[in-house]
Amino acid sequence: MAGPPHARVAQPRAMTTPLPRRLDALAVGERVFLRHPVPADRDELLSLRAANRSHLEKWEPKASPGFDAFGLDWVNAFLATRRGTRGERSLVCRIHDGAILGQISFNTILRGPLQQCFLGWWIGAAHEGGGNMTEAVRLACHHAFTTLGLHRVEANIVPTNARSRALAERAGLKYEGYSPRYLEIAGVWTDHERWALTLEDWIAQRSTGRTHR
Ligand SMILES: CC(C)(COP(=O)(O)OP(=O)(O)OC[C@H]1O[C@@H](n2cnc3c(N)ncnc32)[C@H](O)[C@@H]1OP(=O)(O)O)[C@@H](O)C(=O)NCCC(=O)NCCS
Repeated sequence: MAGPPHARVAQPRAMTTPLPRRLDALAVGERVFLRHPVPADRDELLSLRAANRSHLEKWEPKASPGFDAFGLDWVNAFLATRRGTRGERSLVCRIHDGAILGQISFNTILRGPLQQCFLGWWIGAAHEGGGNMTEAVRLACHHAFTTLGLHRVEANIVPTNARSRALAERAGLKYEGYSPRYLEIAGVWTDHERWALTLEDWIAQRSTGRTHR
């Protein structure tokens, strides 16, 4: 038997994310939001990085000697470069509790006639495979094309990184071409695919409902 009328009305779910963090969001989706990192994130970031060494290091440049790419050195460098005219960092945070799942960087922002940044992304292995990053990259594109006022975002992806290629495609980026020995990854000059999205294509996708805020 149905309960009293008020029991049948969907109650809003409690938002446990600390309010200031959510208010600082760069963009908010249904399952994740993006925000700039702050020094108070140090411990959580350190745990996430340390737990994901084997998941991430095969896709990243080799660290300089003496630099701990999965410890405090990396976290401090990440925080020190969190916001500037030449680049920005964002954290991918779970909407219902604010937990940090991964990150998206807006690298090498170039102005003048190019108006572009290079996106870099990763998510902790425990959070892979659920669509969080698809939403996060779409939110990152929104931030790039609106707040940052860019005309183009580009992501360079190792051809064997099937998850990253699939992510780029799901998020609306287009395959543009192939660059031999483009970036040093894990100590080796590695071929990359260039994936990109321009403002015009992003607007067209929005009008057909393929992207979201
Ligand atoms: C690349 C990387 C970020 C991709 O993350 P991901 O979890 O695969 O991406 P998503 O969060 O979009 O999840 C996609 C998966 O969720 C599924 N999914 C479920 N619901 C979904 C939804 N609503 N929307 C999109 N996908 C959804 C997809 O079908 C896909 O499933 P699959 O894993 O069986 O293919 C991640 O693998 C990673 O961090 N890798 C290591 C670092 C790295 O490679 N960085 C990039 C270097 S270029």
